[in-house]
Amino acid sequence: MTSSVVRAAVAADVPSIVDLEAEAFPLDPWSTNLVAEGVSGSLPTVSYVVADLAGAFAGYAVVSVVDVAELQRIAVLPTLRRSGIATALLAAVHAQAAEGGANQVLLEVREDNIEARGFYERHGFTELGKRARYYRDGTTALVLTAPVTMVP
Ligand SMILES: CC(C)(COP(=O)(O)OP(=O)(O)OC[C@H]1O[C@@H](n2cnc3c(N)ncnc32)[C@H](O)[C@@H]1OP(=O)(O)O)[C@@H](O)C(=O)NCCC(=O)NCCS
Repeated sequence: MTSSVVRAAVAADVPSIVDLEAEAFPLDPWSTNLVAEGVSGSLPTVSYVVADLAGAFAGYAVVSVVDVAELQRIAVLPTLRRSGIATALLAAVHAQAAEGGANQVLLEVREDNIEARGFYERHGFTELGKRARYYRDGTTALVLTAPVTMVP
């Protein structure tokens, strides 16, 4: 399979990101305005990266780097999952984190999100704690962490 190319998001990516938000995060999708604001660079700590496969949008990730790097979103089009695209996005997230001086990536994941938990486990994330009833539907969040590496 052609490998994906990861790049900084641009304004033309906003509709694709918003559509995937609705599919991947149906209980809490980010709005067009919020995504457009983040992609425009007007939120100084926030970076959006996009993966293209054969020149077409395949997925995205959002990271906020302050003292640590917080992975806020990562999602891949359903038909393209299990082909290494999120792994490529995560490598870009680690690179952003390293560039911003962070040495740790943190994230929250739904306890019932088996796919994402499998993905994070594969990439060396370990559990730091739990946040009970963190999500709108009452689901617990697991807080996961991994050391920043250039090649996850
Ligand atoms: C989680 C997600 C981003 C993974 O994306 P992906 O492109 O399929 O991941 P990759 O192909 O890079 O997966 C790499 C490894 O992660 C693990 N993994 C990925 N999907 C998995 C699954 N469904 N079950 C178990 N392990 C999985 C595997 O070890 C996999 O390697 P393998 O395919 O050689 O076994 C994708 O499932 C997704 O978009 N989910 C919806 C959005 C979401 O829940 N995001 C996370 C929010 S915290």
